[in-house]
Amino acid sequence: MNKRLLALTAFLPFAASAAKFSISAQPFGEVDGKAVELYTLSNESGAKVSITNYGGTVTSLIVPDKDGKMGDVVLGFDTVGEYVEKSPYFGCIAGRYANRIAKGKFTLDGKEYSLAINNEPNTLHGGVKGFDKQIWKAKVGNQGHNPSLILTYTSPDGEEGYPGTLKSTVTYTWTQKNALRIRYKATTDKSTVLNLTNHSYFNLAGEGSKTVLDHRLKINAERYNPIDSTSIPTGIAPVKGTPFDFTKSTRIGKRIDQENEQLKNGIGYDHNFIMKDSRDGKIGVVAIVTEPTSGRVLTVKTSEPGIQFYSGNFLDGLEGKGGKVYSHRSALCLEAQTFPDSPNQKEFPSPVLRPGETYIQTTIYELGVQK
Ligand code: GLA
Repeated sequence: MNKRLLALTAFLPFAASAAKFSISAQPFGEVDGKAVELYTLSNESGAKVSITNYGGTVTSLIVPDKDGKMGDVVLGFDTVGEYVEKSPYFGCIAGRYANRIAKGKFTLDGKEYSLAINNEPNTLHGGVKGFDKQIWKAKVGNQGHNPSLILTYTSPDGEEGYPGTLKSTVTYTWTQKNALRIRYKATTDKSTVLNLTNHSYFNLAGEGSKTVLDHRLKINAERYNPIDSTSIPTGIAPVKGTPFDFTKSTRIGKRIDQENEQLKNGIGYDHNFIMKDSRDGKIGVVAIVTEPTSGRVLTVKTSEPGIQFYSGNFLDGLEGKGGKVYSHRSALCLEAQTFPDSPNQKEFPSPVLRPGETYIQTTIYELGVQK
């Protein structure tokens, strides 16, 4: 069978109780003369996620609202060309180091490394050609009753200035309960720093809806990282008594335009919230987003110590899927991660990966409804 036109529907052998799912693969154009594919994983209810192996990018996530009406809740583009040309990291795997490293420099084991400054005066999301711009090898499969896509990428020693040949595997699984489970694994042959995340932009009312300011957000964090005017953390502070207190579900727009130095530095919310002090591998609920009109609920679970809440502050009318206009703050990102600039901040959880160790992360975006 032509692999590029592969379309398979899987019925698990134990007929009566078996859940049904399907996986299809379609050509999604070319990048640098190389073909890329778009994979669609559908579950029994017809809810589905599409992912391209260009950047490991989630391009659509179609789930029901409270009346059972399907809608796409992530921002994206119709063609790979638009991802290459103008994507602000829509849905991608950001790496090797998601988020910022101050002035594009860090020292590891006494050696200083220099990275590209692609977000003056810092490096952002892995540099000029990060993991979001690489073509990943893809393999379809299943995890029990759930369809999955296994993506692998080997980043050569020195790529974008980072030490070590890094072998990464990202497994996306789309469950029968409308949860997108992302498992990351990586190994290196030299000590290096690492921070992988998925950068999906959500609007639970449907992509292209005006703003996310009426979405309500709860983040299970008592502390966050305040930032300087270049978005580099300046330490750790309590959220209590600040617009960063989301310990109770709160409308995102409620305090976003308050006079506040931190909101000014982030041009809104663009900060890391602290779940725990180390990468202990335990998966917990870190954030819950609810959208009142559609009734959709997004629950974020992760094993990571931090989560970047970004309120789409740099969106400014970019044209996306079907010609829809993505206006200011029309999406939010909840990026599970270790803390920004950790290679330079000793009191933060260590982002160092050494030969013989395996980096493991699990993050789950679960889509549900409340009536
Ligand atoms: C992250 C950063 C933001 C912004 C977006 C992409 O969330 O923290 O400042 O760069 O990515 O536009």
